[in-house]
Amino acid sequence: MSDQHASAEAALGTTGIAQRAADAAESRAANRLWWDADADDYHAEHGGFLGDVDFLWCPEGLREQDAGLLGPVAGQRVLEVGCGSAPCARWLAARGARPVALDISAGMLRHAVAAAERTGITVPLVQASADQLPFADASFDAACSAFGAVPFVADVGAVFAEVARVLRPGARWVFAVNHPMRWIFPDDPGPGGLTVTHSYFDRTPYVEVDAQGRATYVEHHRTMGDYVRALVGAGLELVDLVEPEWPAGHTRTWGQWSPLRGRLFPGTAILSTRKPR
Ligand SMILES: C[S@@+](CC[C@H](N)C(=O)[O-])C[C@H]1O[C@@H](n2cnc3c(N)ncnc32)[C@H](O)[C@@H]1O
Repeated sequence: MSDQHASAEAALGTTGIAQRAADAAESRAANRLWWDADADDYHAEHGGFLGDVDFLWCPEGLREQDAGLLGPVAGQRVLEVGCGSAPCARWLAARGARPVALDISAGMLRHAVAAAERTGITVPLVQASADQLPFADASFDAACSAFGAVPFVADVGAVFAEVARVLRPGARWVFAVNHPMRWIFPDDPGPGGLTVTHSYFDRTPYVEVDAQGRATYVEHHRTMGDYVRALVGAGLELVDLVEPEWPAGHTRTWGQWSPLRGRLFPGTAILSTRKPR
């Protein structure tokens, strides 16, 4: 809970934090409500950094333009999972890809509609959950996600299985998440965020609740091993694990991401995977 999210918390009646289980349905419902309620504040705060037509992988500022993790995209049908206002999908479209942008939150997708009107770049938008993809088998040439959906679902194996199902053989699935080691520190960009307070091995989700104990926001932690195991379990191959370094001269703080912490340890993990041919 924080001042940055005060209006979403007020709208949802958030009163506290619980460390308790949250299943797939509860996680889906809470995060849909949360991102609807926080969509305007999220874009007021981060929209300028994200841009309207840009593919930023993470708060460290790594761009697909420089990283090239998806390979050549022209002509490719690319699924963006947890797209928010879909700047990545519009960047892909501007490079000749045929993206489809998916998100669970109508509030976030409304920002995608507004950005399409501003830029004149329209991509198909789909409201659905990442663990229940409404697409045919083998219908995409690549899939990507910049902090969309993966940290918020209870069963990450279900997301990877769904992504693997809709990808063609040989297609890439590349996604960025909070680096799992950040879980052990408080979400504090300052010196308070440098002291370990929590077990890396404790997978109990972070759950914000209302006065009745109903979840209003849920985030799930996995260890790096959990991610690798879930990817292998879904039949995907790990190609690379990118841990973007904090660039010199980058002064912007985003939530718990800051130059102070970024100089010392990674904040983002980008897992690059492939469906076998
Ligand atoms: C941190 S935002 C990232 C959005 C965008 N990639 C960006 O960089 O701004 C997380 C996004 O994941 C979406 N999301 C959360 N749970 C989801 C789910 N189960 N399925 C699809 N999208 C989900 C949220 O609605 C939100 O738009």
